[in-house]
Amino acid sequence: MTTAGTQFDVVVIGGGPGGYATALYAAAAGLSVAIVERDKVGGTCLHRGCVPAKEFLETAAVYRTVKGASEFGIGAGDPTVDFAVSQSRKNAVVDRLFRGLSGLLKGRKVTVLSGTGTLLQDRRVRVSDGPDAGAEIVGRNVVLAAGSVPRTLPGLPVDGRTVVTSDEFLDLERLPESVVVIGAGAIGCEFASLLSDLGARVSLVEALPAILTGCDAEVAAVVHRSFRKRGIELRTGAQVKGFVPRPSGNGGLLHLAEGPEIDTDMVVVSVGRRARTEELVAAGATAVVIDERGFVVADRYQRTHEPSVWAVGDVVAGTPQLAHVGFAEAIVAVHCMLGEPAVPVDYDRVPWAIYCHPEVAFAGLTEEQAKARGLDVVVKKDPFGGNSRAQIIGDTEGMVKLVAERRADSAEGRLLGVHMVGPWVTEQLGAGYLAVNWEATASEVAQFIQPHPSLSETFGETMMALTGRGLHLA
Ligand code: NAI
Repeated sequence: MTTAGTQFDVVVIGGGPGGYATALYAAAAGLSVAIVERDKVGGTCLHRGCVPAKEFLETAAVYRTVKGASEFGIGAGDPTVDFAVSQSRKNAVVDRLFRGLSGLLKGRKVTVLSGTGTLLQDRRVRVSDGPDAGAEIVGRNVVLAAGSVPRTLPGLPVDGRTVVTSDEFLDLERLPESVVVIGAGAIGCEFASLLSDLGARVSLVEALPAILTGCDAEVAAVVHRSFRKRGIELRTGAQVKGFVPRPSGNGGLLHLAEGPEIDTDMVVVSVGRRARTEELVAAGATAVVIDERGFVVADRYQRTHEPSVWAVGDVVAGTPQLAHVGFAEAIVAVHCMLGEPAVPVDYDRVPWAIYCHPEVAFAGLTEEQAKARGLDVVVKKDPFGGNSRAQIIGDTEGMVKLVAERRADSAEGRLLGVHMVGPWVTEQLGAGYLAVNWEATASEVAQFIQPHPSLSETFGETMMALTGRGLHLA
């Protein structure tokens, strides 16, 4: 399309969750918007991240259900996996969502340009490398939302077949028989969990002494125990030394600094993500600051150092790389552009949801973080084991853990953190998220009724117990 000289209220570089949320929210407020996207709107989250990963985790859940069906008196035989079918189902889900998003953008009259956007002087954006290469547009505001890409490790070049990142893994047509997952953060634990459930032999290698170090330590320990019970080999505190491919070209030996090497068909590298800031801002043309790690520096109102240039999503320095954080930042940026009051994102209290089995969900401070900040805390935990719905569905692993401030009179005060691990906790976090962000106390929240029988009763029960008097829990 010919757009040279075209002016917009908002030009967004990057069409992932941060970028498309900016576009939709700005357009809903009546602003004219253009998005420059080098691939497909939806970004990593929709095409190579959250959505496909959760689709495969659901495939793993279906497998587990069928495998355990005889316990319920349902004869279903031994399940088998045809991963090509799983892959095409995943693609169908992604395609439907992609068409839905494209339709939404079109409905709000957002112009989408295909190519790589680079910010020049005076909020001009040049498009290169794509069907709209050569176009130059201007925004009264420009939003940098270029996202992130997987980090890789020196000495472990990604070939897309034996050594892969999440990008390639989510496009596999066939499951490997054995896999080493390097990095036990959210991505590593989700992949290790689904691969193990679907029958692969899995080793999980983590440099730090524990898995899921961003989570409460007791919550991470539940996942650790569950993984070990299911036969996942956990190598924590492990340094990767190198990888020697088999002469056949398929698989190889992964060497660690200590302990035996691991013979594997595939290595999945999930050691974090770096910002995609190459070509994002023309050198010397603006005051935008990119830090030494390659992330864009923005303040709590998403303002970069260049007036009317904003940054949202994974590209922003020092903030959680979560799609829903990108959405929230987009809303803050749009309010600010419009001169409306904006509430900055409280990064300490955003919701986290990790979809491995057992699931993890939390909001607010962990017990360790609260103590490290010098806060005196009261903690209460309740396992799902006694929950009737958990018994009914046959999934009793996990617990709810609450962290609250201890008041001077020793009673529990403001809730600081809600931490959950177990069945469907990613869908149960809502009440906990609200309680923490409302700065409620346990005695306030404990008054609310949970339906019986439901998994959410464990949250309600833990809350009551925190006040000093529970029904089932002391
Ligand atoms: P991460 O930073 O959460 O975890 C990476 C892990 O790799 C860390 O535990 C780190 O200690 C380890 N590591 C780094 N170098 C290593 C090495 N050489 N050898 C062994 N271990 C090494 O990053 P991850 O899991 O790749 O995810 C990227 C981002 O995407 C994160 O911010 C994550 O929170 C987010 N994400 C969130 C999801 C969710 O909330 N469900 C799902 C997927 C990603």
